[in-house]
Amino acid sequence: MDPIRVTKATTRKPKPKDTDLAFGTVFTDHMFVMDFEEEKGWYDPRVEPYGPFSLDPATAVLHYAQMLFEGLKAFRGPDGRIRLFRPQKHAARLNVTARRLCIPPIEPEMVLRSWTTLVGVDREWVPSTVGTSLYIRPTIIASEPFLGVRPAKRYIYFVILSPVGAYYPEGINPVKIKVIDKFSRAAPGGMGEAKTGGNYAASLLAAEEAKHEGFTQVLWLDGAQRKYIEEVGTMNLMLKIGDEVITPPLAGTILAGVTRDSALTLLREWGVRVSERAISIDEVLAAAHAGSLREVWGTGTAAVISPVGELAYKRERIVVNDGKIGELTQRLYDAIVGIQYGPTPDPRGWTVPIE
Ligand code: COI
Repeated sequence: MDPIRVTKATTRKPKPKDTDLAFGTVFTDHMFVMDFEEEKGWYDPRVEPYGPFSLDPATAVLHYAQMLFEGLKAFRGPDGRIRLFRPQKHAARLNVTARRLCIPPIEPEMVLRSWTTLVGVDREWVPSTVGTSLYIRPTIIASEPFLGVRPAKRYIYFVILSPVGAYYPEGINPVKIKVIDKFSRAAPGGMGEAKTGGNYAASLLAAEEAKHEGFTQVLWLDGAQRKYIEEVGTMNLMLKIGDEVITPPLAGTILAGVTRDSALTLLREWGVRVSERAISIDEVLAAAHAGSLREVWGTGTAAVISPVGELAYKRERIVVNDGKIGELTQRLYDAIVGIQYGPTPDPRGWTVPIE
């Protein structure tokens, strides 16, 4: 594997206070960059001062969106140590998306080193207040200037870092969600399980319409029948009905969330009955009417665990757990955050310290 060249920035930007952190508005002093050419493979891994790219207007990604991204976080614990949360799982997913987008894969070990090296260089940017972290945004773009529709022959892999606070202004307070059947996010055989920009672009109109009506996000139903629950906003969804936790299966149309996997692992370890199965909106409504819909929450890297306090579908409004965060939702949030920041032991080896 090529060594990573490091060129340090000569000037440093001012760092925001932890209390001023929003999501994704401030970027650190450095970025990681690596290039791909057909004849050379991935080459010249380097850390350099953060700055703009110069791209030919014909660059393939600007036209046909051949790109992917990832999102993971580095946390500073009370012991001052910095840890990445489940980076191997994110590196594996990066390559799953790469395959779907005809982007050449990157050796997982190289992906991991790109993150640990860059976070190491910008370690002073990792905030320490609980609820804040350093968001790591790896991205690959097709960089060949060419207007034909085929996989590009050149790519840029880059990683930027952003100190962040809560993703939703509500923080850990329950959000109001609109169940929509007018639009869908993904279809069988489509790109739903890939972390690629087009999926997020496709979500904007529905989210904007929901926001105008006073909702925080939308709940997506399946593209084929608009019957089964898929995701909530940019997150995976879990429901507690009676004593069982139900979440849609990874069947190609939803993202294989790392927080989803972490929550399911913990729930199973705690002895909670968990089902990964298709669940229709009608079943959710029936459970709500019967009084057995106990808790609903979203899981995602950005928000970690986001409780749902209200669901609106057609003319119905369902208030979940009196609009308050549920007991299991809170327990999951505390457990995951505890592991991320370090006070809780990590027997599963989910965190990777930055030395
Ligand atoms: C996440 O929940 O981590 C996301 O995917 C949100 C991200 C697109 C900002």
